[in-house]
Amino acid sequence: MNAPLAMPVAAPLVDPFRRSVSYLRVSVTDRCDFRCSYCMAENMTFLPKKDLLTLEELDILSSAFIRLGVQKLRITGGEPLVRRGIMTYFEAMARHLDSGALDELTLTTNASQLTRFAAPLAEVGVRRINVSLDTLQPEKFARITRWGRFDQVQRGIDAALAAGLRVKINTVALKGFNEDELFDLTAWCAARDMDLTFIEVMPMGDLGAEDRRDQYWPLKDLRARLAGRFTLIDLDESSGGPARYVRLQETGQKIGFITPLTHNFCESCNRVRLTCTGELFMCLGQEDCADLRAPLRNAPGDPEALESAIRAAIARKPKGHDFDYSRQEIAGEMSRHMSHTGG
Ligand code: GTP
Ligand code: 5AD
Ligand code: SF4
Repeated sequence: MNAPLAMPVAAPLVDPFRRSVSYLRVSVTDRCDFRCSYCMAENMTFLPKKDLLTLEELDILSSAFIRLGVQKLRITGGEPLVRRGIMTYFEAMARHLDSGALDELTLTTNASQLTRFAAPLAEVGVRRINVSLDTLQPEKFARITRWGRFDQVQRGIDAALAAGLRVKINTVALKGFNEDELFDLTAWCAARDMDLTFIEVMPMGDLGAEDRRDQYWPLKDLRARLAGRFTLIDLDESSGGPARYVRLQETGQKIGFITPLTHNFCESCNRVRLTCTGELFMCLGQEDCADLRAPLRNAPGDPEALESAIRAAIARKPKGHDFDYSRQEIAGEMSRHMSHTGG
């Protein structure tokens, strides 16, 4: 079966709060070769392989969204590069870059596999990637990722830069863990001409004994510390995601802040998330999801059934998340792990 080409947009996807949905995040696997302690439990149960959509089905679903006006596609996981045959899917999505329907094809990765994949990704038209990295210290890196090795990730990042990819580092701000590395991380990224974005830790997934509030380092505080050393210039620009950026006058580098807790950015949300089993999550911070696998499989030759299922889902997109640590109880907590939807 040939995957359908994206056609010109019929009517764009607009939710009940008049937000246009132009950004699709596709989690191609729930598996990962790391076990970051704020993201996964040590003994995760993963989905049976038989439940996964095939790469061709992921292509058909992604292409349906692009037909409906999605212009930015971010591939996530788990770790997207551990999905077998994943380049086939990237190669398929590249046709939407060639046609002009897609502005950006990108991914969020832990960099462990980039020595192998950086060059082929650049070749199919990926220009920019986000790499999750929370510490530069090998011993701490091993501790937080449980299974990861810093030198492997560093080689992956070097390979990405050598392949001409722009790299943005995503760092989850963790109290008592990487507070002391704020300036080291900043300098390390500046030396490699990489942007850096900090993220507030969200209450996603049961972590057993750990309490999120013990991990939470508000970015207001981080920003104030940065401002103690550098002149921060607020920037208006957006990369299409939730980060707000400043430029450090002294180094010229860009620093982003993703602040689901201290500043809710949901009013400008433009994105939805597709999982590797065909569930569509309309909000990272809510349980509701729509099943797109059934319309995909029940009417394989009928793009209209799929499109109407997508429109019906977008009509249910909630206003935003309810994450809040300010009371005695954590509010808005999700039992779902971040690796289910790829952040
Ligand atoms: P850019 O294209 O570089 O702007 O990336 P992005 O920020 O859209 O994507 P990235 O994968 O770098 O996202 C970083 C993290 O921000 C995610 O892993 C989530 O933790 C968080 N994030 C992204 N989108 C949302 C969102 O809609 N709601 C919430 N609460 N957090 C989000
Ligand atoms: N809160 C905030 N960010 C998280 N990530 C994983 N779990 C959490 C959490 N609970 C981040 C990862 C990666 C992205 C996919 O999501 O560090 O950058
Ligand atoms: Fe894997 Fe990313 Fe989760 Fe770490 S944060 S366990 S690298 S999916």
